[in-house]
Amino acid sequence: MLTILKKILSKLTFRSTHHDDEYAGCINDLINHEEVKSLENYVQHKNITRLHHSISVSYHSFKVCKFFGWDHLSAARGGLLHDFYLYGWEDEDRPSKRMHGFLHPKIALENATKHFQLNKREKDIIRKHMWPMTISLPKCKEAWVVVAVDKYCAIMELFNVQTKVTDDEFLARVDG
Ligand SMILES: [Fe+2]
Ligand SMILES: [Fe+2]
Repeated sequence: MLTILKKILSKLTFRSTHHDDEYAGCINDLINHEEVKSLENYVQHKNITRLHHSISVSYHSFKVCKFFGWDHLSAARGGLLHDFYLYGWEDEDRPSKRMHGFLHPKIALENATKHFQLNKREKDIIRKHMWPMTISLPKCKEAWVVVAVDKYCAIMELFNVQTKVTDDEFLARVDG
């Protein structure tokens, strides 16, 4: 798993800061869970896997919330689980054929609560991340951040734009 995580992080071109080891600590238990790891098996945008996309959203949301003094832990954890649905967009037997954008937040939340204890903010982040498709408004600032960061990351991924640089020092921290 560590190899996959390193590979993904090395493609996210964010600069290493003293916050990066804190970020790794925030998501350590989630990223080592078998079903979270399996997000590596699904394509999200172009050549980007769902795990890569989820880490990208999680990390950038963490950074934004840290900057503003908001709940960066919930942003990191909710961000990592926001697309925690275990089927491909092209799968014949996928549960949300027509209404994928509307339904997958609910499926992701069900999967996440099955495996992890989530707080109110983390649940709000996952449930509302597709706003305005979800209609009801996010209730916390951290969920608004993930709404914005998810769209930002999706656009960057679709246009093959790298966002920041991860250096060896960061990877060494993740390696523990
Ligand atoms: Fe999503
Ligand atoms: Fe997403």
